[in-house]
Amino acid sequence: MSENQAQPPLEDIVSLCKRRGFVFRTSEIYGGFANSYDYGPLGAELLHNIRNLWWQEFVTLRPDMVGIDSQILQHPETWVASGHVGSFHDPLVEDTVTHKRYRADHVIEAWVQKAKEENPASFQDFSVEDLSIEEMEAFLSENQVTSPDGNPLTAPKTFNLLMETELGVISGEKYKVYLRGETAQGIFTNFRQILDTTRVTLPFGIGQIGKSFRNEITTGQFVFRTIEFEQAEIEYFFNPETTHWQELFQSWQESMWNFVTKTLGVREENLQWRQHSDKERSFYSKDTWDLDYRFPFGWKELWGIAYRTDYDLKAQQTHSGQNLEYRDPHTGETFLPHVIEPAVGINRLLLMVLTDAYWVDQENNRTVLRLSPRAAPYKAAVFPLLKNKPELVSKAQEIFAGLSRQFPVVWDDRGNIGKRYLYQDEIGTPFCITVDFETLENGTVTLRHRDTTEQERLHADEVADWIKSLLQ
Ligand code: GAP
Repeated sequence: MSENQAQPPLEDIVSLCKRRGFVFRTSEIYGGFANSYDYGPLGAELLHNIRNLWWQEFVTLRPDMVGIDSQILQHPETWVASGHVGSFHDPLVEDTVTHKRYRADHVIEAWVQKAKEENPASFQDFSVEDLSIEEMEAFLSENQVTSPDGNPLTAPKTFNLLMETELGVISGEKYKVYLRGETAQGIFTNFRQILDTTRVTLPFGIGQIGKSFRNEITTGQFVFRTIEFEQAEIEYFFNPETTHWQELFQSWQESMWNFVTKTLGVREENLQWRQHSDKERSFYSKDTWDLDYRFPFGWKELWGIAYRTDYDLKAQQTHSGQNLEYRDPHTGETFLPHVIEPAVGINRLLLMVLTDAYWVDQENNRTVLRLSPRAAPYKAAVFPLLKNKPELVSKAQEIFAGLSRQFPVVWDDRGNIGKRYLYQDEIGTPFCITVDFETLENGTVTLRHRDTTEQERLHADEVADWIKSLLQ
C-alpha cells in the first residue's frame, strides 16, 4: 500500500479546480505557460480568505507584530547582500536527446522512490537534501539514472533561481534588476524605518504577504511549485542575550501548527515536522524545520521555519553602509537582533486546503469539498425554491442582500434543488438556504448542511448570526 493512498490523486483535484473555476492554466488560449496558473472566481476567493486569515492571526491579533508591503523590484544590491545573486541555486540536468531540463535532486528522488517500492529495505536513511552537486553527479552515474524519457542525462550544473529584468528607457543605459526571490529581504531593508516610525520593542515581528518569483523548471506539481507565487513571511526579532531562542522557536512552531489545523481545519495525520540535517541547512541558520504536508505526490514542505541569527541584518548593514542596530530603550545597549523566520506560500496553503477537503461521498454519489467555513469561498448559497414564483424570489433576494453585507454568499436559481446542492457541495459551500412556501407562511427557511446533507428549519432572521458564530 502506498503511503499516499489516503490522499486523492492530483489529477482529480486539478480537474475539479478547472471544472469549477478555482484554478486555470495561465494563457490557456495559447496552449498554457509552464509552471504558471491563474485563479478563477472561486480560487481568488479562497486565496483571499487564506491570506486574510493569516494576516488576522499573525499580524492583527498580535500586539508584538506589525505588517509591511514592500516592492517586487528593489535595489539590486539587496540581492547581492542577501546572497541570492551568488548562491541561490538549484542543480540542473538535461536529457541529452530531448534537451528537456530537470532538477537533478528531483530526478534522484523519483529514482530512489521507485527503488524503495521494489525493495522497501533499500535506501532507508537516504536523503537527497544531503547530497552536494558532486555527490549527485556520482549518484546519477553509479546508478545509471536516466531522464523520465529513458535517455542519458548530462552532469548536474547549478543554475540561479533569481529572475532578471531591466530598468531604464534608453537602450545601452538599461540596468539589471531582479524580481524578488523572497519577500523576507524587504523586511530587513525596511528594518531601520520601522524602528524609527513605530513604537515596537524587542521581541517583535514584521509580517508581509506578497508575490515572489523563481526560475523553477520542475513541472507537474500544479500550484505547489510555480514561477510566480505568493509568500507570507514573518521575521521575528529578539535579543539572543535575554530570549531563549529554542523556546521562541517552539512557540512559533505551535502557532504554525495551530493555524493549519485549527484555523484552516486540516487533519493532523497529514502533517509532520522534519528537521533539516546539518548538510541540508543553510550555513547561516542554527536550526531549520519544515512543516510537511502529505500532498498527493508525497510528503513535501508546506511551511519552513529557520533561526537565521543576525545574518541578514548584518549583510544588509554591511552592503548599505547604514546602521541597522536596535537600541534597547531601558539599557541603552545597541546591537543587531537575531531573527526567527516562519515562511509559507499562500498557493501551497491553497493546494493543501483543497487536498485535505476533497472527499468522494460514495454513499450519496457526490464529490464534496469539506472546507472549513472560514476558508470556504462562499459561506452559504441562497436559493428560491422556484425561480418563476416572484414571491419566493423576492424573499430570497431580501435574504441574500442581508447576508451578503456580512460575508460572501452566492445566489443560485438554475436547475432543480438537487443539482444546486451537488454544485455547492463541489465548491465547498457549507450551507444552502432555500426559500420555500413555508417561508412565506412562518418566516423559516430550509438550511441544508453540506457534509451530512441533513436539513433543518431555521427562522430567516437567525441565519446570519448562526453562520457568523461558525466563522469565529
Ligand atoms: N525566506 C525564506 C524562504 O523563502 P523558502 O523555503 O524558499 O524560504 C518559503 O520559501 C515558502 O514559500 C515555502 O515553504 C513554500 O511554501 C513557498 N514556496 C517556495 N517556493 C515556491 C514556489 N516555487 N511555488 C510556490 N510556493 C513556493
